[in-house]
Amino acid sequence: MCGIIGYVGGGTDGDKDGTASDGGGETVGDIVHRGLTNLEYRGYDSAGVALVGATSGLTVAKRSGEVDALTVPDVPDATHGVGHTRWSTHGPPTDANAHPHTDCVGDVAVVHNGIVENYETLKRELSAHECTSDTDTEVIPHLIEDELVADPDADLLAAVQRVEDRLEGSYAICAVREGDDQIVVARRGSPLVLGRGADATFVASDVTAFLEHTRDVTYLEDGDVAALSADGVAIVADGEVVDRGTETVTWEADAAEKGGYDHYMRKEIHEQPEALRQTLAGRLDTTSGDVDLDVSFPPGFLADVEEIQIVACGTSNYAGRYAAQLFEELSGVRATVEIASEYAFGAGRSPDRTLVVAVTQSGETADTLGAVRRANAAGARTVAVTNTLGSTVTREVDNTAFIRAGPEIGVAATKTFASQVATLAMLAVAVGRDRGALGAAAARSVLADLQGLPGAVQQVLDEEPQVREAAQEYQDSEAFFFVGRALGVPVALEGALKLKEISYDHAEGFAAGELKHGPLALVTPATPVVAVLTAGARADETMNNVTEAQTRGAPALGCVSADDEYDTLDVSFDVPEVGVLEPLVANVYLQLFAYHVANEKGRPIDKPRNLAKSVTVE
Ligand code: F6R
Repeated sequence: MCGIIGYVGGGTDGDKDGTASDGGGETVGDIVHRGLTNLEYRGYDSAGVALVGATSGLTVAKRSGEVDALTVPDVPDATHGVGHTRWSTHGPPTDANAHPHTDCVGDVAVVHNGIVENYETLKRELSAHECTSDTDTEVIPHLIEDELVADPDADLLAAVQRVEDRLEGSYAICAVREGDDQIVVARRGSPLVLGRGADATFVASDVTAFLEHTRDVTYLEDGDVAALSADGVAIVADGEVVDRGTETVTWEADAAEKGGYDHYMRKEIHEQPEALRQTLAGRLDTTSGDVDLDVSFPPGFLADVEEIQIVACGTSNYAGRYAAQLFEELSGVRATVEIASEYAFGAGRSPDRTLVVAVTQSGETADTLGAVRRANAAGARTVAVTNTLGSTVTREVDNTAFIRAGPEIGVAATKTFASQVATLAMLAVAVGRDRGALGAAAARSVLADLQGLPGAVQQVLDEEPQVREAAQEYQDSEAFFFVGRALGVPVALEGALKLKEISYDHAEGFAAGELKHGPLALVTPATPVVAVLTAGARADETMNNVTEAQTRGAPALGCVSADDEYDTLDVSFDVPEVGVLEPLVANVYLQLFAYHVANEKGRPIDKPRNLAKSVTVE
């Protein structure tokens, strides 16, 4: 996720008080640069700063690559500045796309997190301006410029307030302007926190950025716009000045990086509602039932396509298995899923009528890249579904759909699985609409379920204490069996993978119907069965198989659609109604279950033994 840091206070030069609250003998550039270093853990591909000097005006420096490689300009009279680490969502990680972005005359600079959904419309309205990047962010300084030209008496705060009214999406913004001694910030959907020093004020996407200077913080709320000066802050909401209070942070930097969570994995599980909002942002047209994923195909290709082959490894493979069922249902095309390391373009298939979809969070998995290369060599059309702009896979495929989940640091994939399935579901709708296989009403219903996903996932996250209790009760089991049918199968496989990789317990996932064809021999009172019993997962039939296991003494845990009930379950987790996406929501319970079992055992959850986040060897 992108990171923001802003500082106003003039730095310290030894003849000030030199307390920790104002940075102790550093220039504004030093303080902003170190703030960027503190934000590095969030993951990024580019960095930049904008410094404002009392007489020297606005100076911007930015580039793709590491914060260490960024030369922060020497601006001795700087009074304030902003910095940004970018995780690309619109446009590749280039110098031009790095933040800050400026207006035409270079008076205004803006850094931004989140997504401006209507940036294309706004860019068209700004046709008289010179835009130099691919980003959605760049419209903001140009809109501010227009406001300041239209009303030369307006200050930066007033201009940002007017611009904010025109932006759609979720974002956090920091703006500075030559000749203005304040930083103006706005929050809608993306976090922003203010740091209150004795004679300095900070703003950042999280407290880690400035924790070494101050622990007194004010959390902005959605819709807040604030003007920051060395003396304090003025926060405005709905046209009124408001007081958001001040809290003292007691975490140490390491915990703060994890947002107060003990592990990145748990943080990332909890980030899923926000990640999903970003995945969906600006892509759904709920009136027409269409989807815009920015993936194009040659005319007539989709009408003639005979097969969609999904290639992926591990969790991404399970996301692919989920999606294959959606592709068949929504687009009417036969869809197969291959483990990427096993993939070969089979005999008897026609490459020009085959679409190969490579699903890879990192975009660097050697096995998946190998499969893409084999598909390309056979002459098939290839699409990547990935989280990582600029990754190798994006350079080797015909098209890419980005999942926009933000960086995932825990080795076990969590939020990226949810965003992969959501992106693939959108692709399935897009293919179905293009082929005329999916009517507008049916498409609208899927889009409504997609829109309901972030809220449904949040409801599950709110039930975490129930999951922790179940994890405590069953943590000492000999083995765990995860079962489901239809869309419940990939979720059962994923639930078992998550548990085994972070708890080191034996866990297996399979189609519920297979239980009686072998695994039932392993079932005992010491082997809980965890079942997906939701819409899209043939719940009643699955429950029959669960009962077979219960008859052999196995405890049974189930993720059950909110409108259903299975009285005989030992533990029942409620899954909010979101149609074919319910198994995906159920998966959040399984992530939390795996997390809490592993946590009870004191496992190194973020870095399980023998595993790497990105597997770049075949
Ligand atoms: C499991 C996990 C792995 C990855 C797999 C593919 O939690 O993270 O199974 O899903 O290594 O990685 P990507 O998606 O980067 O290709």
